[in-house]
Amino acid sequence: MVDSIHIDCSACEAFETAPHITELEPQLQRARDIVCQNVEQMTSGLAIPIEQRPLDAGFIDLPSQLLQELSDCGDESLLGRIDEASAMLAEQIDRLVILGIGGSYMGARALFEALCHPCHNEQSREDRGQRPRILFSGHNVDNDVLRGTLELLCSGNPDPDQIDGRWAVIVISKSGGTLETAVSFRLFRQALEDFYPSDSPRSRDLVIPITGTTGKLRALALASEYPRVFDIPEGIGGRFSVLTSVGLLPAAAMGLDVQRLLAGAADMTRRFRDQPPGDNPVLDYTAVCHVMESQFGKTTRVLSTWGSRLEALGLWYDQLLSESLGKQQRGATPITAVNTRDLHSRGQQHQQGTRDKLITNLIVERPTTPPLQVPTSERDQDLLNRLSDKTVPDILDAALRGTNQAYAGDERPTVDIVLPQLDEYVLGQLLQMLMLCTVLEGRLIEINPYGQPGVEDYKNNMEKILFR
Ligand code: PA5
Repeated sequence: MVDSIHIDCSACEAFETAPHITELEPQLQRARDIVCQNVEQMTSGLAIPIEQRPLDAGFIDLPSQLLQELSDCGDESLLGRIDEASAMLAEQIDRLVILGIGGSYMGARALFEALCHPCHNEQSREDRGQRPRILFSGHNVDNDVLRGTLELLCSGNPDPDQIDGRWAVIVISKSGGTLETAVSFRLFRQALEDFYPSDSPRSRDLVIPITGTTGKLRALALASEYPRVFDIPEGIGGRFSVLTSVGLLPAAAMGLDVQRLLAGAADMTRRFRDQPPGDNPVLDYTAVCHVMESQFGKTTRVLSTWGSRLEALGLWYDQLLSESLGKQQRGATPITAVNTRDLHSRGQQHQQGTRDKLITNLIVERPTTPPLQVPTSERDQDLLNRLSDKTVPDILDAALRGTNQAYAGDERPTVDIVLPQLDEYVLGQLLQMLMLCTVLEGRLIEINPYGQPGVEDYKNNMEKILFR
């Protein structure tokens, strides 16, 4: 299928995985049935039994629902409102600060790094398509970084009447009570209110909260009468929320095509529901990961991204897998590697360290821009003229193939997730695929993939220490 993601597990065949995968098939089908039943349970309106809670399967059909809502309701739909808000931001500001932590920012960051120009923030406004520069904050407690970001926005007395000096804040928190984001918001909000004259509508227009239906941020948004507030729907957990307004509004503000993102995700859900193993990336990838872990002790999953633009996507996936399946003293450990960079650091460990790793290569078949050719040099002091018929993608491909050969030579298992190119449609497929794989695996190994009780523990303790 054109532009569809596919999985290549052939390198695992040396481990004779095929009989294990065949044996696993009935269990995998049952797990798929549970995942699909969970969606129906949520839409039935019936109470979810206590032992099944939390149940956050709302992300599964959301992409097709949002596209349908757009065609039914146009400007009144969520996508219509996102379009309006992103157009307002493009018209009004030059810098957009996105505040959030965990699932409330990692997806937007993954989209920014994968799909925007690699030097987006350094480009001229025209080259950015009039879209604002993007800054992420509120995802840590770092005095110097917070101060530095505030200084960047406010120092030198920028003129609020000039677009080059203007900035806005999108603050994202489902619970509305996460302290890192809440404290950052208070700082940025104060700076924003100092910056724009108090009678200026900008001091309200240029703050856009995205939050759950209840909680402190919701209450604050209502009290402050911010004209645009976006909901994070019930039934969708933070790390599964990238294709809600949590990721879609930032993506639209960056100038990305959110409908293509959703179309890719909706197609992946269709493949997951309908396609048999062999043409079902969710079933195929989950099967190989599970067999490698349960039969061959590969408890560490290295997501090896080839090229620099998928690192944030890898970090998003680290969170997804860790918070979803790292429970009851189980769950594989995810690690993101960026190659070829990390071949010069982690590569040694992956090649000759403990035999506990499954390496997944995340490969982009076609670069977004025309391939750069190695130039010929008259003096050839670096002896690279013999590469002058090669391009940068040729060199990356040689590194990938050479690394895979080395792994195979030492019986280190690899699997490839192949992306035809980096665009919204493909990223939509990939995000949805990895979210579906995670919940499918949870159902397979009987761990509830939703909720994150361990994270809640630290949040509660931190608050007790601070507020005592
Ligand atoms: O997956 C999750 O639910 C978490 O990682 C949250 O996204 C994270 O803790 C941030 O929570 P909140 O959006 O409530 O501020």
